[in-house]
Amino acid sequence: MQDMKIGMLGFGNVGTGVYKILMQNSEEILHRENMRIKVGKILVRDIHKTRPVKADKHLFTNRIEDIIEDPDISIVAEFMGGVEPAKAYILSAFKNKKTVVTANKELMARHWHELEKEAQQNGVGLYYEASVAGGIPIIKVINESLQSNKVHEMMGIINGTTNYILTKMAEEGGNFESILKQAQQLGYAEQDPSADIEGKDAMYKLSILSSIAFHARVPIKHIHCEGITNITKADIVYGEEMGFTMRLLAIAKKRGRTIEARVHPAFISSNHPLAAVREEYNAIFIKGDAVGNLMLYGKGAGDMPTGSAIVSDIISACQASNQHKYTTFYNEEQASDKVIFNDNWETEFFIRLTVKDKPGVLAKISGIFAKEGVSIASVIQKEHNHHEVPLVFLTHLAKEHAIKKAIKEIGVQTDVVRVENVIRVERSQNVKDRY
Ligand code: NAP
Ligand code: HSE
Repeated sequence: MQDMKIGMLGFGNVGTGVYKILMQNSEEILHRENMRIKVGKILVRDIHKTRPVKADKHLFTNRIEDIIEDPDISIVAEFMGGVEPAKAYILSAFKNKKTVVTANKELMARHWHELEKEAQQNGVGLYYEASVAGGIPIIKVINESLQSNKVHEMMGIINGTTNYILTKMAEEGGNFESILKQAQQLGYAEQDPSADIEGKDAMYKLSILSSIAFHARVPIKHIHCEGITNITKADIVYGEEMGFTMRLLAIAKKRGRTIEARVHPAFISSNHPLAAVREEYNAIFIKGDAVGNLMLYGKGAGDMPTGSAIVSDIISACQASNQHKYTTFYNEEQASDKVIFNDNWETEFFIRLTVKDKPGVLAKISGIFAKEGVSIASVIQKEHNHHEVPLVFLTHLAKEHAIKKAIKEIGVQTDVVRVENVIRVERSQNVKDRY
């Protein structure tokens, strides 16, 4: 039997989930893996805080040295979040020959190359399954089950907080701020929830996922990132009338040496499988040349699902002994100069304007679209309101740059009161064209 002592950095949502799993399922782990995992110390900011999950008070410390310098602790599991001091603590864990398991997607996306280099130099491991999509074992699937594939595309919902907000806004019509508060209370949101609602959390995760899937580093600076803060109930309702559901999507495609990677809200057909992914659930489609289309679905946030991924990594790290695996792609801060990043992708567009209710306005706007080579699929004109009228355009496939140019020109027309929103429409990524 293997006895393993771990040090935990953090005892918040994820940390308490890990602790509960280790307590509740210790017999299961012993029978399956012949392994006993013991918690040696838990680092927190405030050792006197009353905590919802009870643990022996002697386990808590606010001194990192109590973990890093303990020779009996061989694995450090980090879920304190943020870049510093998490990065400094992890680097000193490596220097002290300890393997690290982390849920910290921001740290991984920003400093993966540096962390991995230090781990490798010290002959220890770096495990990060929990950093992407909570309980879904997506990293293991890509690294250990799809090695024989060339992965061309992935598209998914990889942020639980925003999916929870969009689901509630559509189904219950609640207000953005109060739904975000619920997501925070449920333990889904980041310490600073702007990382969720501005799309950054999904951007960090897409950087990690697309790098391992495409076997080429995709740094965050090459990922287009928009969040959901501009999405209104009106957009969702207009979209539903057109047969669409709103989701925050993370999309990455590789064609030859060219990669496009983007995170933004998008309409998808309401009968697309991703439209059925509700609340904090996540789902990821992957398209490999051998395996074809693959979809993974599960809880993308929360204490127990994320704890499940952490404990699985702890077990894998124990079993690896000193034979840890490291990435085999060019894992530097910058992308390889063999890779080209494309920012002029093609989607359909939903464009919602408020215009003056006057003859000729529609023709003028259509003329601007035509000048930029954007073809209109349909136009909806709704109720009047004080001589102003809402106009919703749906385009055929159009280039990102052409739409941006057209919208800039439309926005300065005197008859256009406001450009209310411009939302991409994703039709058939990774699934049969019927979506
Ligand atoms: P959290 O609830 O805010 O917990 C953070 C924990 O870390 C707290 O126990 C806090 O101590 C401790 N901590 C923070 N800064 C510290 C410092 N400087 N020194 C000592 N202790 C410190 O956060 P969380 O939701 O568990 O998330 C943690 C990490 O997991 C983040 O990287 C997040 O992105 C990632 N993650 C979260 C989820 C999720 O569903 N929540 C899912 C996947 C990944 P105190 O308790 O004393 O304040
Ligand atoms: N804040 C993240 C989310 C936690 O909402 O998906 C899981 O990584």
